[in-house]
Amino acid sequence: MQYSDKVMDHFLNPRNMGEIGDASGVGEVGNPTCGDIMKIFLDIDDQGIINDVKFKTFGCGSAIASSSMATEMIKGKSIQDALTLTNKAVAEALDGLPPVKMHCSVLAEQAVKAALIDYAEKHNVVIPELEGYVIDDAHDHDVPEEE
Ligand code: FES
Repeated sequence: MQYSDKVMDHFLNPRNMGEIGDASGVGEVGNPTCGDIMKIFLDIDDQGIINDVKFKTFGCGSAIASSSMATEMIKGKSIQDALTLTNKAVAEALDGLPPVKMHCSVLAEQAVKAALIDYAEKHNVVIPELEGYVIDDAHDHDVPEEE
């Protein structure tokens, strides 16, 4: 399998790895097929700006690279900007992922949204875009069938 230099870089030197003790919102998602788990911590200020973001990923190299890239893409941005982060954008920023690894980037998008949902619930904020958003655990984007 061929990985881009960016994937290798973010896998070997992950940005924003760790956790935020008193996070404004925490999101944890997993993929039941591969068993990988991703957790995102957000520190959001009164203006709705994501001042800090950290991740913990128990998963494959592509999941670690995707989490690292996703945190870079939303750090310092508004909630509105973070809402527009798609797994495709994460994969593109990594100069692509192999097709069987696209689902790793899906975890990153879902973890960010899950953390925003947690933030909204804890702070009595309504994020209309996330109303009714279901984090589909059974998401099987390009997950290879088990043999
Ligand atoms: Fe499942 Fe990468 S997140 S193999």
